[in-house]
Amino acid sequence: MSELRNLRVALLGSGSVGSQVARLLLEHSEELSARIGAKLELAGIAVRNLDAKRDVELPQELYTTDAERLILGADIVVEVMGGIEPARTLILTALQQGSDVITANKALLAAHGEELQAAADRVGAQLSYEAAVAGAIPIIRPLLNSLAGDNIKRAMGIVNGSTNYILDSMDRFGQTTEEAMQIASDLGYLEADPTLDVEGYDAAQKAAILARIAFHTELPADAVYREGITKITAEDIATAKQNGQTIKLLAVVERVEREDGSEGVSARVYPALISREHPLAAVHGGKNAIFVEAESAGELMFYGAGAGGVETASAVLGDLVSAARRHVAGGPGVSFKSYANLPVLTIGEILTAYQLRLTVADQPGVLQQIAGVFAENNVSLATVQQSPSKDTADAATLVIGTYRAREAELKATLERIAALDAVLSVDSTLRVAEVSA
Ligand code: NDP
Ligand code: HSE
Repeated sequence: MSELRNLRVALLGSGSVGSQVARLLLEHSEELSARIGAKLELAGIAVRNLDAKRDVELPQELYTTDAERLILGADIVVEVMGGIEPARTLILTALQQGSDVITANKALLAAHGEELQAAADRVGAQLSYEAAVAGAIPIIRPLLNSLAGDNIKRAMGIVNGSTNYILDSMDRFGQTTEEAMQIASDLGYLEADPTLDVEGYDAAQKAAILARIAFHTELPADAVYREGITKITAEDIATAKQNGQTIKLLAVVERVEREDGSEGVSARVYPALISREHPLAAVHGGKNAIFVEAESAGELMFYGAGAGGVETASAVLGDLVSAARRHVAGGPGVSFKSYANLPVLTIGEILTAYQLRLTVADQPGVLQQIAGVFAENNVSLATVQQSPSKDTADAATLVIGTYRAREAELKATLERIAALDAVLSVDSTLRVAEVSA
């Protein structure tokens, strides 16, 4: 039997994800070789600090601080160091020399995905990033390959585990935002800068990557409309519960038909009310899920671990095996084309149903006055619930649900309502997730 060919793998980073990638590569080396038809040789691991104490024990001689040197001549480069630089330059160098690159770096892909893909295409190398969106969940490859013959209408997902953990703990265990956030931090779900999670930046980066692939359209992360979860209160969660709903931070990427019949793409991240009967409402703790609606395939749900070292390493290894098989089979890597480049719509162009909670004076005629403002602004009311205010004497809490309305019209309505003497406070404004009939 002929000797199996060696494929040199350079690993950039040995943190939560990288250390697990290295461990799995070494522990499962024979099985991986059998699946690939070539041996994966871990050529080295680039880190910042050679003396750092590490949770996963790996041969010390593999470590280096010279990432530039490590990638020279590598067949496959795995980037799990994070951040923009030096990751971007290292990946570009690797691609230019014809190495396949696997990255889990959502921030880099959201900002420079087009540049990296172009560099891969120039030499026929493969750029893969399954782990960048929703950790272990296969979503990139299904969109790129399995659904390549279909048309995606919408993908709506929970793509940030820590905010899901926080909202879910508030909903199920009655924890305060602060309590839930502390536990999410202790469990290691939060980014080093938790603002990235709670203000929706992390989810927006993932939404940008999803929108790009689903709609073949370049879409930078800062074109994603973004609201985080910091304004969500225990009262919002309780009201949602009473109405058979829960609140989730949703990333929604959608192909939208405009009034003139032309098409555009919308990508947005915000906390939204969703029926407890929707599959996304059953995504608990730090788990992620993406609900995809395709023209022919219909509704598909992808669920699992959105973070975690070993879980994310599984997705990296999947890309690694795939890249290695390409080396064995020969031929260029599968390219990705943003051929459609649909216009990216602003949030003002999107129709959404809303739910508002107001504290109003408990007097005759107030409801009529408020309903009049909605009508004047072209926002149609769907439901109105009134109950005595728990906090304010002689006041009532109004929970008003609207039909789909434009952001601009809703804003104008809210401004007028807030200025009414009878309206004591506008306590919350939440979007309601759109679900198929
Ligand atoms: P960590 O911070 O745990 O690890 C980063 C690793 O990269 C460390 O080993 C660090 O070295 C090394 N590193 C950082 N900068 C440099 C540099 N300039 N030169 C050499 N080495 C460097 O990150 P994670 O493993 O958590 O994340 C890695 C990537 O995976 C990120 O892009 C992240 O967004 C993505 N990701 C992570 C998930 C997770 O659950 N953790 C889930 C999905 C994606 P040293 O150890 O010496 O400090
Ligand atoms: N902070 C991220 C999350 C990690 O909470 O989902 C995985 O990308």
